[in-house]
Amino acid sequence: MPIRVALAGVGNCASSLVQGVEFYGECGDAPGLIHADFGGYGIGDIEFVAAFDVDARKVGRDLSEAVFEEPNCTTRFSDVPETGVEVRLAPVMDGVGRSLSTEVRVGGDEPVDVSRVLQESGAEVLVNFLPVGSSEATAFYAGASLEAGAAFVNCIPEFIASEPAWASRFEDAGLPVLGDDVKSQFGATMLHRAVVQTMRDRGVRVENTYQLNVGGNTDFKNMLDEERNRTKRVSKTEAITSLLDDEIGVRIGPSDYVEFLDDNKQAFMQVEGRKFGETPVSVDMKLSVEDSPNSAGVVAEAIRAAKLGLDRGISGPIESVSAYLFKHPPARMDDDDARKLVESFIKGDL
Ligand SMILES: NC(=O)c1ccc[n+]([C@@H]2O[C@H](COP(=O)([O-])OP(=O)(O)OC[C@H]3O[C@@H](n4cnc5c(N)ncnc54)[C@H](O)[C@@H]3O)[C@@H](O)[C@H]2O)c1
Repeated sequence: MPIRVALAGVGNCASSLVQGVEFYGECGDAPGLIHADFGGYGIGDIEFVAAFDVDARKVGRDLSEAVFEEPNCTTRFSDVPETGVEVRLAPVMDGVGRSLSTEVRVGGDEPVDVSRVLQESGAEVLVNFLPVGSSEATAFYAGASLEAGAAFVNCIPEFIASEPAWASRFEDAGLPVLGDDVKSQFGATMLHRAVVQTMRDRGVRVENTYQLNVGGNTDFKNMLDEERNRTKRVSKTEAITSLLDDEIGVRIGPSDYVEFLDDNKQAFMQVEGRKFGETPVSVDMKLSVEDSPNSAGVVAEAIRAAKLGLDRGISGPIESVSAYLFKHPPARMDDDDARKLVESFIKGDL
């Protein structure tokens, strides 16, 4: 059965997701998936029915072309045949910040009525892929999702699923919501959490840690603006510090834009602690990863969880799945516990 999906923002993450649906639609359960079958849904069941952006190079184009338009720079791992879905112009609001003003060419005629387009397209799930710091625009899309009766998957560090006021609006509307801020399939947060958790479990007192991230896509360029970056820093930092009881020295977040890296993200991490006899131990790590497919693999899970939520009449945040797939979920859990709960959710035991 198809899952009718709308996209807010047709940037690099959307590109990887659209390509992934094509790629796995063809190959079923090829390597690289967390779940080939998520409660009876495959990735190939995802059908895009609407898409919104503000960049004149993407608006008016078929989604299959828009995903490869500049300034998108992620790897092309699959061709995408024409979808019949035209990217529609949305209100820009605070979607394009200072650092992106030369990258994103805002243009087009009158913005569409987003909630109306969602309703007319029959969208069941709206995915928020806006730039970090789009606070007003995220609230606008969350509101449009509620109006149109669509579940909401919030991939960015604006707090919707984890914000009680928004969570109860989705609950009252009888709609699932998942978020906030995607925890990539195998990214800096997962690796950093795994090391900190192992040290903690082995009795090491973690004393300080950093995680410095650089990349060359528009996401990183946007995050040069420290003011827009505030919630990203909170989300990424809490994903680590929530594992520990003590206060530690910590610095975590996007750290610079290195244009020639394009969609390759590099994360430099250090964790220092004290073990038996208060003697020191220190771990240094470097992760290098293609950034956008790393989030798309997780969003493909979240979309199918949202659809299962709709099928089962679940309203409000889906806590287990959010804890497993997002950095700033409504309820925090150890990754192992969250994974077991997700398996139970898939089986319908929760
Ligand atoms: N790459 C990852 O692994 C990862 C992980 C966690 C979170 N995220 C978050 O996901 C989001 C999307 O990332 P990305 O790399 O695709 O960013 P991107 O910059 O490539 O894409 C953002 C898109 O949103 C469009 N946009 C701006 N304002 C808009 C508006 N009002 N309405 C509709 N579209 C608008 C832009 O034109 C652009 O096409 C970012 O917030 C990022 O931080 C990414």
